[in-house]
Formats: sequence, C-alpha cells, structure tokens
Amino acid sequence: MERTLAIIKPDAVERNIIGEIVKAIEGEGLVISAMKMLHLTKKQAEGFYYVHKDKPFFDSLTDYMSSGPIVVMVLSGENVIERWRKLMGATDPAKAEEGTIRKRFGLNIERNSVHGSDSPESAKYEISYFFNALEIVR
Ligand code: CDP
Ligand code: MG
Repeated sequence: MERTLAIIKPDAVERNIIGEIVKAIEGEGLVISAMKMLHLTKKQAEGFYYVHKDKPFFDSLTDYMSSGPIVVMVLSGENVIERWRKLMGATDPAKAEEGTIRKRFGLNIERNSVHGSDSPESAKYEISYFFNALEIVR
C-alpha cells in the first residue's frame, strides 16, 4: 500500500468540477484517505512548489495556485503514485491521453486542473505539507 498527494487546482474548483474529479478518482479504485479545502497564500504555494523555484514558470504557477481555493487529498492504494499520475495525464492537456483528467478538464499547461506527487519522496514531503497523522483517516 502506497500514499500520494492529489490536488484539485483553482481552475477546477472555480468551474465547480470537484465532483467530476472525485468521481474519476473513486471510479479508478483509488481510496481517498484525507481531504480538505484550502486557499493558499503566495508564500505557502512557493513552499509547496520549492523544487521548481528556479523554473521560468515558478512565479506565474505560484500566483495561480494561490489565486483561489484548492482541494487537497491523500490517496491510498497499490501503486497509487503511478496510477494517479496516469489518470491525471500529461502536464500539458493538449498532449494528454484521451480520457485522462487533464485531457477532459485542463485549460492549458499551467491551469491543468490537478496535481499528483511524482515519487515516494515527493509524496512524503507533499502529504506532510498539508496533513498531520491524525487527519489521515483511512
Ligand atoms: O504537475 P506535473 O508534475 O505534471 O508537472 P511539473 O513539471 O511538476 O510542473 C508543476 C506544475 O507547473 C504543472 O502541473 C503546471 O501547473 C505548471 N507548469 C507550467 O505552468 N508550465 C510549464 N512549462 C510546466 C509546468
Ligand atoms: Mg510535478
């Protein structure tokens, strides 16, 4: 059993498609073990995405991620990091496979509706960024 951090990003919350995304997650057999809604400050978004601090898109990305509410979730299951990345689709919605969340709902390479950890190490950092042990209930 593995855990990963998933985020429904501001573009998706704003368009009232939280339910569509949760439905896709549950439909794939991924278990939601923790969930809450937050509105990050710019500083909190920068801390979350610190690995990208030297990228040209960092300032715009952290503005966007702090522009409105997000839903953060811990997902659990066998191989869940890879399974959630596959269900999300490629970073650029234009390049994402048919049926993936980013293909269905993503607006552009920045406003791509969802986030998923990319490794066990990043999952550990990202889960602990938002949740303490008492909040992870399944
Ligand atoms: O989210 P993912 O792991 O697929 O991509 P990333 O390379 O870790 O980038 C993190 C986030 O930065 C993406 O999900 C996009 O929201 C944003 N991004 C961007 O705005 N422009 C890029 N050229 C690449 C990523
Ligand atoms: Mg990433």
